[in-house]
Amino acid sequence: MRVEGVSIIKKLTSIFIILAMITSLCACSDLHTDNDNNIHEQSSLGISYGETSGLLDDNPTTTDTSSSNHEPTQGTSQAPTQPPTQSATKAPVQEATKQSNETSTLIPTLPAVTVTSADVATFSGISYYKPDNIVNYVAYKQLNPNLSKEDVVTHVNIGLHTPFYSKVNTISNPNDLLVLCNKYNSLDANYVPADLVTMDRNYASSGQKMRKEAAEAFYKLSADAKDAGYTIMAVSTYRSYSYQGKLYNTYVARDGQTKADTYSARAGTSEHQTGLAVDVTAGEIAEYNKFGNTASYQWAKDNIHNYGFIIRYPEGKTPITGYKSEPWHFRYVGIETAKAVYESGLTYDEYYVRYLAK
Ligand code: DAL
Ligand code: ZN
Repeated sequence: MRVEGVSIIKKLTSIFIILAMITSLCACSDLHTDNDNNIHEQSSLGISYGETSGLLDDNPTTTDTSSSNHEPTQGTSQAPTQPPTQSATKAPVQEATKQSNETSTLIPTLPAVTVTSADVATFSGISYYKPDNIVNYVAYKQLNPNLSKEDVVTHVNIGLHTPFYSKVNTISNPNDLLVLCNKYNSLDANYVPADLVTMDRNYASSGQKMRKEAAEAFYKLSADAKDAGYTIMAVSTYRSYSYQGKLYNTYVARDGQTKADTYSARAGTSEHQTGLAVDVTAGEIAEYNKFGNTASYQWAKDNIHNYGFIIRYPEGKTPITGYKSEPWHFRYVGIETAKAVYESGLTYDEYYVRYLAK
């Protein structure tokens, strides 16, 4: 009996050790799945968010398939091979390009068009009209007849007439607080903001960093939210190019590239590398991707512009931003611009090409 008892204890101990090892492996990958099929960082295991910790992204929801399709606003054209003309001249045929991701079959080809002087008259009255884009305005309008001419010009100026990531510019003004970082504009792999500060633990989880001006604005936001009875804490802020790359690759391995692209940025294209983005929670760290359901979010969506922040990936704007809604991802742009973006009802991509692009 005693020998049997010892043997059972040994077996139980082995099972316990194996379970502990499995738990520890899960913690290393930093991901887990909840009832809604979301993954988040395992803060309950004592892992902090951010660069020095394990992997974290800001929208690992895996159930929504609605946003992986750019149709019908994405075209597959190359830039015209000849300079666009300003008169009634046949535009070059737009040829389909090889797609860089799995969405290729969903994206229509821009039609070949003839640009007339009436077309030029229509579009050139818009203040953000770019003469070089006239062929694409006309073709994109033909593909999206219900769009206003303002939206046509805006979309083409963003780059939406070509698939996400098909033509990626290197950002030339990475230190500008107004920098536009998206699927068409990428930061250099070596870019690290020079004025990152480690954030005060009263407002952020351990080790979080933002650019100084953004961090200080966030403290004020968080403090005022607290005075109003809400909790808004920073849980994922600056992320380096290499860290973002690892994060993205983790999600691609798990969900495939098409789905990963709807919630995670490819290296160089994450606003988190600017040091101006912050993912927040309403207090319970593990629930950060439920922030949109909280009273804190209700306060945030109508107040954060007063502190210089915008909701960067709003609901219903996936065809523009390329991302599913992320109520928890705030972007610092300064008070004046944040107020103007809020009042405009535009995404930052749209606002930028209309009013800020040089
Ligand atoms: N989740 C946002 C889009 C990022 O990865 O930067
Ligand atoms: Zn984020």
